[in-house]
Amino acid sequence: MADIKLAPSILSADFARLGEHVAEVTDAGADMIHVDIMDGHFVPALTWGPRTVEAIRRWTHLPLDVHMMVENPERHVDSFVDAGADIVTVHFEACVQLHWTVDRIRSRGARAGVAISPGTSVAAIDEALPWLDQVLVMSVNPGLPGQKFITSSPQKIARVRELLRQRGSEAVVEVDGGVNADTAPLVAQAGAKVVVAGSAVFDYPDGIEAAVRLLKERLGAGT
Ligand code: DX5
Ligand code: ZN
Repeated sequence: MADIKLAPSILSADFARLGEHVAEVTDAGADMIHVDIMDGHFVPALTWGPRTVEAIRRWTHLPLDVHMMVENPERHVDSFVDAGADIVTVHFEACVQLHWTVDRIRSRGARAGVAISPGTSVAAIDEALPWLDQVLVMSVNPGLPGQKFITSSPQKIARVRELLRQRGSEAVVEVDGGVNADTAPLVAQAGAKVVVAGSAVFDYPDGIEAAVRLLKERLGAGT
């Protein structure tokens, strides 16, 4: 369990109190802060840009895990790294020049990830695996918090893990979408090393601290 990181997604936080919520999950024992960037094109919703990343950077010492649900992300990766992102993940489906983009993120000093939506096959990213620090397996269709976990996701995580092993890659597998106390052990068991949770953290009836404690416990139960 100790090596599985919990990354609360601030998409479910109060946008008018983002700083306080970032500080609160940090104090509660989160390992990273997951920041969902949506452009109104790749997904219908709109969220934030680099200035928000820069602002929340001042509220936590934790790594900022920026998930870009954005078309042509190569246009924006520099500004997110400059704003303080530690990990920048772009979607396979949204990125025309994936090698260039990953290379750019890394050369600017951040770690690079590629996300695959539920309809994208693991084989699609085979060529890219040696360049990556992280592979993000979406366990819901990107765009909204609070959706239902797609039950075949643990098998997909396991397939990515196996492919990484075959390619001799050290990249970690992250999972995002529908993770709660029931699904956390399943993704842990499948080999996810970074686990994102939005509504299960910020909408938990007993509060953020209790939610982080419960999720970390459940991630431990799966390993
Ligand atoms: C969905 C986002 C997720 C989302 C997760 O498109 O990428 O990070 O906030 O929310 P939950 O954990 O509620 O599914
Ligand atoms: Zn996300």
